[in-house]
Amino acid sequence: MKIAVLNGPNLNLLGTREPALYGRESLADIERSLRGVATEIGAELEFAQHNGEGELIDTIHTLRGKVDGVVINAGAYTHTSLAIRDALTAVSLPFVEVHLTNVYAREPERRHSMLAPSAVGVICGLGAYGYELALRGLTRTLAARV
Ligand code: DQA
Repeated sequence: MKIAVLNGPNLNLLGTREPALYGRESLADIERSLRGVATEIGAELEFAQHNGEGELIDTIHTLRGKVDGVVINAGAYTHTSLAIRDALTAVSLPFVEVHLTNVYAREPERRHSMLAPSAVGVICGLGAYGYELALRGLTRTLAARV
């Protein structure tokens, strides 16, 4: 099973970005841990991070037929981007939305997700571990769908 792990704006700064909120693990650290999980569960991963909404959408378009599902932390675009949700549904890719922080316990503008209505599931508030849970949950759900 092939899964793409996509990260949106400012997540390239993980490790140094507001560590009290987002933790001290870098995106490279998270990707390394996910590779370990992927080996354990027999999944193949590809990673992308973009700060621009259009670049994220272009990347999602290239994933059609290439991967079976997507783990996505769209960062702040989560709260605004109908276009990213449209892109994911346009290429018919099941996805799990993940956030390091519990967005529902933060400012009101972070408490709404444009992506969640089309997501297989949403994981938030568990830090970097949330990516692992998202990967495990998505692959398990997809395997059960067959
Ligand atoms: C985030 C939460 C978003 O509100 C924020 O804009 C981010 C990170 C998270 O992982 O907790 O960039 O997606």
